[in-house]
Amino acid sequence: MVSVSSKVADCEMSFQSLITKWQTLNSSVEALAALGAELRLRREELDGDSRMRSLLLDVVRRIDPGLLDGIDANEERAALALIQTSFRQAIDLIKNPARAPGWHYEDPVILKSQGQVSRLNVRSIDTLAAQRRDLGEALHRPGAFLDVGTGVGWLAIEAARAWPALRVVGIDSWEPALVLARKNLAESGIAERSAREFADRAQRRSSMDDKGGRGASRRARLRADRGVFTCAFDYVGAESANGC
Ligand SMILES: C[S@@+](CC[C@H](N)C(=O)[O-])C[C@H]1O[C@@H](n2cnc3c(N)ncnc32)[C@H](O)[C@@H]1O
Repeated sequence: MVSVSSKVADCEMSFQSLITKWQTLNSSVEALAALGAELRLRREELDGDSRMRSLLLDVVRRIDPGLLDGIDANEERAALALIQTSFRQAIDLIKNPARAPGWHYEDPVILKSQGQVSRLNVRSIDTLAAQRRDLGEALHRPGAFLDVGTGVGWLAIEAARAWPALRVVGIDSWEPALVLARKNLAESGIAERSAREFADRAQRRSSMDDKGGRGASRRARLRADRGVFTCAFDYVGAESANGC
């Protein structure tokens, strides 16, 4: 039979091991926070308090002495965004432990940070394309690039910049992210440029279609009016409903 005192001892042991685990896990959390703080000071070109700065640098060195060597400004921005979104997502989980699984974030910092991270994928695809000739050629000839789960749209915008021959379409089902995607798209100037190029192309096609009848010509003009990005950042369902 187990005595009451041994049960209490078991409970204490188990709480002690929980605290030990927390200490181990927390050192990673704090190290990540220090790395984020150091990256923010660098990004914003702030000196900060000299004592704090030296502590932060010490933590970063302990993680890995060469951790930030050779990291360019874009990579610094992406790494900081990654850390920010991780912390925000973790806080969101603690605040809403009963929530459903999936991507339902409304916090603009989470949405924007995730987008900043994702835009680097375009560089990764370009790096891969340098080794894969077929991929490289496909990226630079007319075609379509579909970004499923585009979020705030940065990957799609970056793709449109990197590979101007492609028609880029971003789709997502989460309206709070799409609101930011439309704003980013409008501010990027990509939509306007692409819509103009598309209109020129459609105009040329329209002149050719004129030889083939009024119906075809009207369809071509409609395509030109809507522009390349009219359908971009709409729901998948809405895209088919619009007949894009
Ligand atoms: C991890 S987030 C990445 C977002 C985006 N790539 C970025 O970096 O900002 C995943 C995205 O996929 C979207 N998503 C999930 N299921 C989807 C579906 N069935 N159709 C379209 N989008 C979907 C979510 O709404 C969310 O925006």
